[in-house]
Amino acid sequence: MTASTTQQIILTGDRPTGPLHLGHFVGSLRNRVAYQHDYRQYIMLADAQALTDNMEDTGKVHRNVVEVALDYLAVGIDPAKSTIFIQSQVPELAELTFYYLNLVTVARLERNPTVKEEIRLRGFERDIPAGFLTYPASQAADITAFKAHVVPVGEDQIPMIEQANEIVRRFNRLAGRDILVECKALVPEIGRLPGTDGKAKMSKSLGNTINLGASEAEIRAAVKMVYTDPLHLRVEDPGHLEGNVAFLYLDAFDPDKAALAEMKAHYVRGGLGDSVVKKRLDLVLQELLAPIRARREEFAKDRGQVMQMLKEGTMVARETAAKTLDEVRAALGLSYF
Ligand code: TRP
Repeated sequence: MTASTTQQIILTGDRPTGPLHLGHFVGSLRNRVAYQHDYRQYIMLADAQALTDNMEDTGKVHRNVVEVALDYLAVGIDPAKSTIFIQSQVPELAELTFYYLNLVTVARLERNPTVKEEIRLRGFERDIPAGFLTYPASQAADITAFKAHVVPVGEDQIPMIEQANEIVRRFNRLAGRDILVECKALVPEIGRLPGTDGKAKMSKSLGNTINLGASEAEIRAAVKMVYTDPLHLRVEDPGHLEGNVAFLYLDAFDPDKAALAEMKAHYVRGGLGDSVVKKRLDLVLQELLAPIRARREEFAKDRGQVMQMLKEGTMVARETAAKTLDEVRAALGLSYF
């Protein structure tokens, strides 16, 4: 990026409902670490959004704010480059949400594929908290408050970005000028990691995760359980790669692509046992996670310092959001004095 181009802005975030895992790492964390050098990056701990389906367990959300912040620091998010902040402490976002809710219909919210899938997973049926149904409007507020151009997220968040852009277009049309900025989702090639059990998605609620802070023994135990090829009974049998989680993980994490290609060919031909594949996977994951775990432990020694960092980041974020809110209010005829 040259000095003459205006700097591109990133806004992204996670709900702090549990520790981050390899799914987050693949879906967005790797991109956030890589992009923080060239973009002005804001990373939000979406505690308020997390409450939309956790009002019965607010303590869980509260506790996980610092845990997720530790995960960010551990993977290499640098607070000198990225502004990390807490959503609930930026009330400007709530006010923006309040206005944006008038720019979406209930029917459109009900059609949002991400919301639909989450409603199904949570078994809400008809008893959907209104705040949950409408959280795409709040997510649009998060993104637009910072006039973000780019949002690094996992594949499942694409409908959220589409809906945010619809709100932006409607708002700008009503305002008669481009106050808000449309954004692009930044989704990596491997945008979703299956769970260790072979289910489509790695997710805490499905209990099929490998956490970024996992111990050596936890990694080893998880790798043992990884779903492979149920038809591959004897070593000499030909193996299948489709849906084979061990190979999907190696695709995502093994730096030696040439050796991996050879291993795949051997597996498909027959004569390569799952234990060899899993041994490689264990090695790759241990090497990936050992430095992350070490950095996490280091930062975890001083949670007070982590909270101080979040406080400073939140102050910076608030200033930016307040500027956008002023413009939005003015455009809506809501400035009087
Ligand atoms: N919906 C995201 C999640 O489920 C969290 C989130 C809230 C977010 N606001 C955002 C992500 C804005 C990107 C941009 O984890």
